Amino acid sequence: MLQDVIELDKKYYMNTFGDRLPVCFERGEGMKLYADDGKEYYDFLGGIAVNALGHSHQKFIEALKNQLDKVIHTSSLYYIENQAKLAEKIVTRTCADKVFFCNSGAEANEGAIKLAKIYNYKQGRDRYEVISLDKSFHGRTVATVAATGQTKYQAPYKELTNGFKQVAPNDFNALGSAVTDKTAAILLELVQGESGVYPLDEEYVKKVRRLCDERDIVLIFDEVQTGMGRTGYLFAHQWYGIYPDVFTCAKALGGGIPIGAVCAVDKIASAFEPGDHGTTFGGNPFATAAGLAVFKIYEDEDLVNRANKMGAYFAKRLNALKGKYPDKISDVRCAGLLIGIEVGAERGKAVFDALFKHGILTSLCGGKTIRLAPPLIISELDIELFISELDSILKGME
Ligand SMILES: Cc1ncc(COP(=O)(O)O)c(C=O)c1O
Repeated sequence: MLQDVIELDKKYYMNTFGDRLPVCFERGEGMKLYADDGKEYYDFLGGIAVNALGHSHQKFIEALKNQLDKVIHTSSLYYIENQAKLAEKIVTRTCADKVFFCNSGAEANEGAIKLAKIYNYKQGRDRYEVISLDKSFHGRTVATVAATGQTKYQAPYKELTNGFKQVAPNDFNALGSAVTDKTAAILLELVQGESGVYPLDEEYVKKVRRLCDERDIVLIFDEVQTGMGRTGYLFAHQWYGIYPDVFTCAKALGGGIPIGAVCAVDKIASAFEPGDHGTTFGGNPFATAAGLAVFKIYEDEDLVNRANKMGAYFAKRLNALKGKYPDKISDVRCAGLLIGIEVGAERGKAVFDALFKHGILTSLCGGKTIRLAPPLIISELDIELFISELDSILKGME
């Protein structure tokens, strides 16, 4: 059956993902996914930081089924109860005063960039530049690729949207020099996820906040990957204790149902007036029912605190393993349950492949870092299983 799917894929699907891992999942339950040949896998990647509730969480499925029986989509021409209630959930738990829903992380970042630009436009200023960081990842649309500080994603699509530039992370002088009287916004991931889990220095972020205050530059945090409890706080900026003007969120917000959010303080959010931005699907009754169910389950099961505790436990156990294999693990970077284990470019692919063979799903960043973003329902037992598999793989390696 897998072979049939591979053949169909090769024949009919655009080849943007190349040779995928040779597996096709049929169902999931909690931390586990089951392939069509019956083989069991442990999901330590959580659909790339999406499946925070694990797979097939019964209360989540019930909430989705319940909404399906009522109404799926109506359009933005009408008021949407779930949309308003989900916006309230986010606003009452963060520094944001207003929310706008869309369908993905890239689209949320697009919305945030548009918001920063229109804020300046309505102030009567000619500011359009957006500064982001090298090694960042902000999405695959034309503007978010322009914001993504990685040549491999940008090169084929030149000329990109103009007005974007990148500077080295944690180098405040470089950032200071890049700011001009045209700078509308600074866009940061507090933890650079896709490039291998690199948290920004707190002092650096504080200075950026101060600079933005002094120059009235819109500070945007891209919390697409770090949001919704991933770092052990509902949002990573709450962990840092440094607050943006705008933050974006997606991935775990819908528990697997596509949804993104632009979240902003009133001063900036009020720049969006009727007709300035829009969406067909964004925040429809079904997607926002998913978001509401995610919040309810987070609260019922105390998942943000759980992520904090399990993240600390994982970090302790991985650092012990690093102590055991100092020549094989060069770094362990943990931001709650967003974890990068640096095993070196020479063995990155082999470790990743061996984990997969052992039924452990992870991702490989930059050829050298094993990234984990497991469901927040993870237990100490699951962590021990990962540690013992990685231990046995490293033991058998040169
Ligand atoms: C930090 C960050 N921003 C934006 C995106 C893009 O999100 P999406 O793939 O939902 O468009 C991602 C996806 O990995 C991400 O990690």
